[in-house]
Amino acid sequence: MCGIVGYIGKKQAAPIVLEGLSKLEYRGYDSAGIAVYDGEKIVTKKAAGRLAVLENLTHSGENMPGFSGIGHTRWATHGAPSDLNAHPHTNKEGTIVVVHNGIIENYMSLKTKLTDKGYSFASETDTEVLAQLLDYYYSGNPLQAITKVLHRVEGSYALGIMFADHPDELYAARKESPLIVGHSDEGCFIASDVPAILKYTRSVYYLDNQEIAMLKADQVSFFTVDEESIEKKPVTIDWDANAAEKAGYEFFMLKEIYEEPKTVTDTISPRIRDGKIEIEGLGLTDEELKAISRIHIVACGSAYHTGVTAKYVIEGMLRIPVEVDVASEFRYRDPILSKNDLVIVVSQSGETADTLEAVRESKAKGLKVLAIVNVVGSSIAREADSVFYTWAGPEISVATTKAYSAQLAAFYLLAMKLGRVRGVIDDKRYSELMDYLCALPDQIELLLGQKEKIQHFANRYVAAKDVFFIGRGIDYAIGLEGSLKLKEISYIHSEAYAAGELKHGTISLIEPGTLVVAVATQPELFAKTLSNIKEVKARGAFVMAVAERGRKEIEKEADYVLYIPHTDPFFANSLAIIPLQLFAYYVSVGKGYDVDHPRNLAKSVTVE
Ligand code: F6R
Repeated sequence: MCGIVGYIGKKQAAPIVLEGLSKLEYRGYDSAGIAVYDGEKIVTKKAAGRLAVLENLTHSGENMPGFSGIGHTRWATHGAPSDLNAHPHTNKEGTIVVVHNGIIENYMSLKTKLTDKGYSFASETDTEVLAQLLDYYYSGNPLQAITKVLHRVEGSYALGIMFADHPDELYAARKESPLIVGHSDEGCFIASDVPAILKYTRSVYYLDNQEIAMLKADQVSFFTVDEESIEKKPVTIDWDANAAEKAGYEFFMLKEIYEEPKTVTDTISPRIRDGKIEIEGLGLTDEELKAISRIHIVACGSAYHTGVTAKYVIEGMLRIPVEVDVASEFRYRDPILSKNDLVIVVSQSGETADTLEAVRESKAKGLKVLAIVNVVGSSIAREADSVFYTWAGPEISVATTKAYSAQLAAFYLLAMKLGRVRGVIDDKRYSELMDYLCALPDQIELLLGQKEKIQHFANRYVAAKDVFFIGRGIDYAIGLEGSLKLKEISYIHSEAYAAGELKHGTISLIEPGTLVVAVATQPELFAKTLSNIKEVKARGAFVMAVAERGRKEIEKEADYVLYIPHTDPFFANSLAIIPLQLFAYYVSVGKGYDVDHPRNLAKSVTVE
């Protein structure tokens, strides 16, 4: 969602801010803006549309000289995407300038009060209220004005603020929306996500809720909302700066799909020592692992789909009951949680608002929360009781691929660890599973070799109107993700169904030529899915199947088959998802879409 970048230091600010914003493009946005102090006043430029429009307007920042500036990419919430609604927002004189991520929930009542006091508003945004409220409280002391405002606003915010009469300072504050502060010899930075400033510094401070940072060219100070000074320790980011570059790939999504063998290795390998799984930071003793009577997995979107897969894996492997919820439902359904339950939340960004709320809800009910998270230091990682980092590196494309694979791998490790501790997996089975697990990266690599075949097939379906994914058990979970990938980046209507459920209504949508993707990797369910393939074939569907190598019989029923290498059925998702990710990718490319930035979507969903 919205992105923030700010800089104050020895260099020209505008090019740094614009470049930083370009690194946040993946978050999804519909307008952009920048403000720079030019030595006398703050100059603001903003424009609806892609960042390129703003870059043109400012000649890539060259016609905005100055050593401090803030910039923003906006994903519209209050008011349409337009030049006027784009950030930064200012007071009437343009002497106080604000960029904001999040939502000010009481902005209407604040706006009314300010209007009564003679203030007028140029935009429909909640953010402009912040700029005007700062103006109202400002009497020469920026920190004082900011704290007064923060005491009055309700909702979420990450803020970058400049005051024209304090040109050597830049301010930042946060509540619920992520914000980091970076520090280097060249100057100081604020950013809503690490990739924006990775080129300049790896030393970052994570602002906590209701903390304020004051940045100068060579130092940063931190304050509470009561103006008390606080000490914070920087964290060193060990991401490879190149990881956030395209490295010759047309789109980040393809690059990230190609990174999956490495990602799965990076998630698995450090946790296997002398043939045993050891998960550092798990935060649960063996006794606690033995005592677990139920697991609740809570997540959104693709992360939720890894949870659906994990349900089949954990229940099938360990016979521990697992409930899976989408976080936006979990948080409002007053879930029944018992003393020996474990809550596992899953999130790539670690900032998803609903998932974060699920952490809080569970903790408030006295439960331990384990978070499977990719972004180190993110809000969910910090608020959960313990964290299982997936170490997939920065994921830039809005549609997740490598982080999804890493989450699956994390669940496999967790299931095997639990099985071992609880004595339900014997030595033989453990080493068999271990072999299959460790073979996954090479097998994924093999599947990537089928790229051309999949591209060829995808080109035939760029004009498809509806696509159905069917499968049973884990194959159903695979279908859920395959379908989401396709619809989010190709805008083709697509649905995933438990294969046996189709005939209870949805089969009426199958017409001659409708593409049905049948996932049939589970040996126990193979014959059943084959029957379901026959049912849709009888209604004229064109069936593309994904099955395990050697299952030749499927060729009699399906029109086109993609084979995956042999693995343990519990791990099949990690292989079967690769051709489906590639399929979605090539359909989107075939339609000429901006694969990495699908319409209406944001990478990090920080509003509920
Ligand atoms: C789909 C996708 C989303 C995310 C979901 C959760 O490709 O990326 O469905 O999986 O928004 O995001 P995180 O994992 O950051 O909590």
